[in-house]
Amino acid sequence: MQRHAVLVAVWKEKLTYNQSVNAAETVVRLTTGQEWPFAIALAPNPFSYVEVAKITSSTHIQVCSQNVLWHPEAGSYIGETTTEMLREIGCDYVIVGHSERRLHFVESNDMIASRALAAISAGIRPILCIGDTADDRAAGRSLETITAQLRAFFDRIPDQVGETDFLIAYEPVWAISTWRIEQPLPSGQEVQELHAHIRELIVEIKDRNYATRVSLLYGGSVAPENAEEYMAMTDVDGALVGGASKVPERFVETLVAARSGFQKRRVNV
Ligand code: PGA
Repeated sequence: MQRHAVLVAVWKEKLTYNQSVNAAETVVRLTTGQEWPFAIALAPNPFSYVEVAKITSSTHIQVCSQNVLWHPEAGSYIGETTTEMLREIGCDYVIVGHSERRLHFVESNDMIASRALAAISAGIRPILCIGDTADDRAAGRSLETITAQLRAFFDRIPDQVGETDFLIAYEPVWAISTWRIEQPLPSGQEVQELHAHIRELIVEIKDRNYATRVSLLYGGSVAPENAEEYMAMTDVDGALVGGASKVPERFVETLVAARSGFQKRRVNV
């Protein structure tokens, strides 16, 4: 069964407006006219959303927001971005629950689920990030953390939310380039096992039919050097690419390596 596959360039706050515009133009130029077995999306800083959306609007490149406000029924929320704003620019995805939001902005599982639900209601697909920290790993509670994050999300989403209305990204915090601790990155096989475990959890919460169709992305220092290995895994449906996407040529190299991985997977399946 074919799942939605996507690789997202996550620029965080690292690129300025001018840099984002240049990077978006370069990614469009270098990827046009080629076949990609996955969607390609750019997640610029909010300051650059509009211009990046204009550059990509009539191309194959999609746009991903770095944040979204839950439904603002009561009160006002300075600094936030609403689903209405995102719909105006034709936004395709929004990242929620990223480890940096969980840590620096103290976002709870509940708040994250609310953001995801707002996006789903507006027809924008949230990419729910889940992942264990270095401390979780050292204490042997990685699976516990991931399970709690996943269950908190499924506890909140109504039954009518379909399995293709959202994506999940497993991002071990200790493997993200900015937090990287002195140990090797997980191998493709280790990521595959974790993703298979996440899928089994979804089977328990929903059912196998549903779980089989949920897209599971991977994130954590994905780069040209390892994208092929990760994307060759049958339960890895794409990636969030942070550090390696800051230079657009390097992001495109990552896409090329990922494409080789997807091609190998097709042969293996
Ligand atoms: P990284 O970031 O690729 O630099 O590790 C990924 C992320 O933060 O989503």
